[in-house]
Amino acid sequence: MLFKITVLGDGGVGKTALTVQFTMSSFVETYDPTIEDCYRKQWVVDDQPCLLEVLDTAGQEEYTALRDQWIRDGEGFLIVYSITSRPTFERVERIVERVLRVKEDESQSSYHPYSHQPQSPYSQQPQSASASQQRRRTPIVIVGNKKDQYHSREVSTDEGSSLARSLGCDFYEASAKTNTNVESGFKSLVRQIKVN
Ligand code: GTP
Repeated sequence: MLFKITVLGDGGVGKTALTVQFTMSSFVETYDPTIEDCYRKQWVVDDQPCLLEVLDTAGQEEYTALRDQWIRDGEGFLIVYSITSRPTFERVERIVERVLRVKEDESQSSYHPYSHQPQSPYSQQPQSASASQQRRRTPIVIVGNKKDQYHSREVSTDEGSSLARSLGCDFYEASAKTNTNVESGFKSLVRQIKVN
């Protein structure tokens, strides 16, 4: 079974490092900004073999035009910030909202051929019901990376977990460097995608 995971988050938070640690068991020390790279890993989750396709995306601002396509390509989303950078944490909520918006548009346009016509005021009710369904259905995990750099911490564990709770997402603090909790986020996504 194939699982398509997209890794999103600001530039330099460790998306490539987490992806490479997960798929190739090594830590990327140098910082080389990504445009887009796809990695594959065969894995066993809950006794079931699976193939993961992980799309590592660009965090740099100049590539955000590509973001909606990356979202359409994914079934599950690892949204990463760095615990050493508050601005990267502050972007998480907007990224989650964007994922939900794109997935909601996608499901509306695939199920309702006339969804591009202007909505009447009466359509407000069903639309918001569908937004909350989308929130429950779209597998998203929030990861606070660089946990090993605790001396430079700018975002507390409590702040991370309460943001994730308020957005209805799973949450882990991780370190690509020490390989702490790297698999946990991916495993949670596979389990969430399976029940969808
Ligand atoms: P973009 O491609 O620009 O979006 O960046 P990115 O999010 O892919 O970041 P990348 O993985 O390239 O990591 C940026 C820098 O942070 C690199 O120098 C990494 O070695 C370092 N880094 C990534 N994860 C960790 C971590 O868990 N701990 C520490 N100490 N450094 C890390």
